[in-house]
Amino acid sequence: MVKHVTDAHRQIHQEDEPLPPCWMYSPAAAVVAVLGACLYGAPVVVKARNPEPLNYRPIIGVLAQENLPDDLSARGNSYIAACYVKYVESAGARVVPIRINLPEEEYVRIFNSINGLLLPGGDVDIETSQFSRVSKIFYSLALKANDDGDHFPIWGTCQGFQQMSVLTANKNLLTLTNTKAVALPLILSKGAKSSRLFQSFPEDVMQSLSEQNITSNFHSWSLSLQNFSRNAKLKRFYKILSINTDGKVDFISTMEAYRYPFYAVQWHPEKSPFEWVDKPGMVHLGSAVRASFYTAAFFISEAMKNFHNFSSAAEEDKALIYNFSPDYKGQGAIFIQNYYFD
Ligand SMILES: *[C@@H]1O[C@H](CO)[C@@H](O)[C@H](O)[C@H]1NC(C)=O
Ligand SMILES: *[C@@H]1O[C@H](CO)[C@@H](O)[C@H](O)[C@H]1NC(C)=O
Ligand SMILES: *[C@@H]1O[C@H](CO)[C@@H](O)[C@H](O)[C@H]1NC(C)=O
Repeated sequence: MVKHVTDAHRQIHQEDEPLPPCWMYSPAAAVVAVLGACLYGAPVVVKARNPEPLNYRPIIGVLAQENLPDDLSARGNSYIAACYVKYVESAGARVVPIRINLPEEEYVRIFNSINGLLLPGGDVDIETSQFSRVSKIFYSLALKANDDGDHFPIWGTCQGFQQMSVLTANKNLLTLTNTKAVALPLILSKGAKSSRLFQSFPEDVMQSLSEQNITSNFHSWSLSLQNFSRNAKLKRFYKILSINTDGKVDFISTMEAYRYPFYAVQWHPEKSPFEWVDKPGMVHLGSAVRASFYTAAFFISEAMKNFHNFSSAAEEDKALIYNFSPDYKGQGAIFIQNYYFD
């Protein structure tokens, strides 16, 4: 029976709750069940194999970055916008902040303790910053871990997307676009609906994503379809799930790696539910909030397949974001709350 369960069903039914009756999956099972009921007067119970074990206490590392130069009330030298923490928490995971400027061994230890990495949006140099240095360390560790049969997901949003493109191509192929504050509908690729990322999204969410202006774009740089297509490393590595255009340049807006659980969005799913600055490109429609949730839930479902852990409960406690308090930056700020780190 189990082989009839599609991946989409597996995603939906990965909880501990019993699988729905098998005939929902397979016409052959339905025949057996109906025959069984007729012959024996009782439904046939077909035992499904237990779903693969999952980690229901996942922890996501969210990478900090250098403070914005125009953030006059910043503390320390790096920050994490709280929206990324809330985004991860909304889907059933905890957050460990990953600070910049640590020695490499420390990042290896953190890598072996967390179940996924989120590379947030922001505004640092993706070739020379500490953010880019640490991204590269984790990206290399994740490549190797996944090659060795471990399942370690990476999610990149906006700058995180761009950073991943630089890491994969080993060069910066970005180009300027007119996309600083605009909400766009995704132009889905042919393979989008059967992609790992989108396949278990409800139909109405896919429809909203592709028809309504609900994906927030706040970027000056983009990975053009042209540069992507001309770069063998990128093309071999990522499947394009959606593109967008500023009217002149077509750029990649959503992609997933073929052979790795790596996902990248040029848009900002975390803004609709958690950011409140009043400017063009910000959307609080119910459909946008729903779409946001499904992206987070997908990423966390990937992290649930990872079983890295801290060496002790005390080490875990010490590392979690709960040890820090975010600063309220005001409703007019680009990020409503930020965590700061020394
Ligand atoms: C392609 O990448 C180069 C950098 O290598 C950049 O200068 C150029 O603007 C990009 N062109 C397009 C169309 O994206
Ligand atoms: C809505 O999306 C279209 C592209 O399909 C874009 O041209 C337009 O500027 C967007 N409108 C708003 C209000 O963001
Ligand atoms: C971490 O995982 C190992 C083996 O997977 C397990 O023995 C250990 O108890 C776990 N530690 C914690 C703190 O959960």
